[in-house]
Amino acid sequence: MIPTQVTLVEVGPRDGLQNESAPVAAAQKIELVQRLQAAGCREIEVTSYVSPRWVPQMADNAPVMAGIERRAGVRYSVLTPNMQGLEAALAGQPDEIVVFGAASEAFSRRNINCSVAESIERFAPVVAAAHAAGIKVRCAISCALGCPYQGEVSADEVERVVVLMKGIGVDHCGVADTIGVGTPRRVQAALERALRHFPLAEVSGHFHDTYGQALANIYASLEVGVATFDTSIAGLGGCPYAKGATGNVATEDVVFMLDGMGIATGLDLDALVDAGAWISGILGRPPVSRVGRALLSRRAAAS
Ligand code: HMG
Ligand code: MG
Repeated sequence: MIPTQVTLVEVGPRDGLQNESAPVAAAQKIELVQRLQAAGCREIEVTSYVSPRWVPQMADNAPVMAGIERRAGVRYSVLTPNMQGLEAALAGQPDEIVVFGAASEAFSRRNINCSVAESIERFAPVVAAAHAAGIKVRCAISCALGCPYQGEVSADEVERVVVLMKGIGVDHCGVADTIGVGTPRRVQAALERALRHFPLAEVSGHFHDTYGQALANIYASLEVGVATFDTSIAGLGGCPYAKGATGNVATEDVVFMLDGMGIATGLDLDALVDAGAWISGILGRPPVSRVGRALLSRRAAAS
């Protein structure tokens, strides 16, 4: 049952850098994308077209999208919460867009300033316009394993939003543990609700590692056949509207685990460690990735 090949969607440039208090220049974001694709990343979430008042870190979306050097075979995605975001995003020619809703009403209000039902009403024309432009649409369902405001979130609440996303024509369903509280069996239960409505190839996991459960949750996802995960270089990330949530699971850590299991990702671990060390240096701290730190220490000891 365990997949032999896994696709990792690199979300560091977006989920990672949206949460940094220190400004990161557009040129550095562009270089990060360059380093990630050189390390073999074939799916990169580059930026988001959200209100610059809400997330000033992503206000440079247009120059970043215009500045990246497009590589054949690499898919570049961006977040678009509404038609205004989609219209701005189209100029940057993304391969995929992401609409982001939530399994909890409280988080929907805090993150995108509307109820779940209103969010679906806003997303419907975004999905239709993206499809008309030949662009694939992924959704993220935040707080699928728990909400910083509401607390517990049930699998029924997840499935309700899965069905709504399917109803407006979303192509791919991402199940997101925004605050990293999910544990393996609960993650499987949430994914199984998505798998009732979307094919295996169109369901993915997005696990923040706040409670150190993300690798176990990825393993549990593999057990139910899910083979696509969002990961973030150096373990960068968080959501400005989910206080206390730390980064996504580190790409380096996931690749180390999958390499060890003989599961192909097409990614070059050494080059990822370099990219993680580079962006962490820009941010003035060591990588959060345990594998990144271990391999950097081993290199230092060997030299
Ligand atoms: P709103 O205030 O309700 O929007 O915000 P509005 O339509 O009333 O417009 C108010 C102002 O925002 C206007 O500007 C609009 O032009 C502007 P003003 O006239 O006041 O100067 N505006 C925009 N500007 C740029 N791009 C846009 C846009 N839309 C309106 N697209 C809105 C609603 C959704 C815009 C706001 O709540 C927002 O930007 N939220 C984004 C929050 C966010 O980015 N969170 C992080 C990403 S999600 C995440 O990290 C979770 C994920 O990783 C999965 C997981 O881990 O759970 C994906
Ligand atoms: Mg996230």
